[in-house]
Amino acid sequence: MDFYEAIDRRRTIRDFQPAVLEEETVERILSAGLKAPTNDHMRDWHFMVVDDQAVVRTLLERIPKQITENDMNALLRDWNLNDGCQQNCYRDAVPKQYRMLADASLVVIPLLKQKTDIMHPDNLSQLNGFASIWCCIENIFLAATAERYACTLRIPLGNEAEWARKVLQFPQEYFMPCFIGIGKPSEQAKKIEQKQIDVKERIHRNIW
Ligand SMILES: Cc1cc2nc3c(=O)[nH]c(=O)nc-3n(C[C@H](O)[C@H](O)[C@H](O)COP(=O)(O)O)c2cc1C
Repeated sequence: MDFYEAIDRRRTIRDFQPAVLEEETVERILSAGLKAPTNDHMRDWHFMVVDDQAVVRTLLERIPKQITENDMNALLRDWNLNDGCQQNCYRDAVPKQYRMLADASLVVIPLLKQKTDIMHPDNLSQLNGFASIWCCIENIFLAATAERYACTLRIPLGNEAEWARKVLQFPQEYFMPCFIGIGKPSEQAKKIEQKQIDVKERIHRNIW
């Protein structure tokens, strides 16, 4: 697939159909992740690949399975989500947080070695490892797209990350930035309209 086609086709998908992802495909996708730029040249990243359904269910146990209409409205209000396009996204995404990962062919948890307290950095450089793993994550998304699969993503809330560590037993010095689901979009998979932005309005040549 052409590079710009992969960029255009990559969309966050939250509705998956049953599908098997071959081991070689998973390896190609995660190898693309390992080619991403990295702050310290080390790429000290690991990937938990979870496709055993019993483990997936336990891993996702702490993620809320549904949300009431009242709670959704409160969330939109409390998070100041006033844009209609953005509200459409959250109204679709929030109720699917559990199912999207449970229905994906597999869940990948990228891990980075984090030597300092990521929640209280002393300077920007201490976040370089975190920034680098997001480059890795985007490579994974684009590679999965090029392989004609799709990805979904969740930031762990509350104690979800600690629970994941307990279930999967990854070491204390490794930090998980997110859950990734990879799978085949279902026939009716929803693609939330992206906000259309004219690049010319965002480019500032020489002076703002
Ligand atoms: C840093 C980051 C955090 C995100 N967190 C979540 C999340 O917790 N749950 C979710 O369903 N999607 C999450 N997303 C996906 C976004 O909702 C999605 O990328 C955005 O709405 C744009 O849609 P698109 O990816 O289809 O272009 C996240 C994306 C990024 C980059």
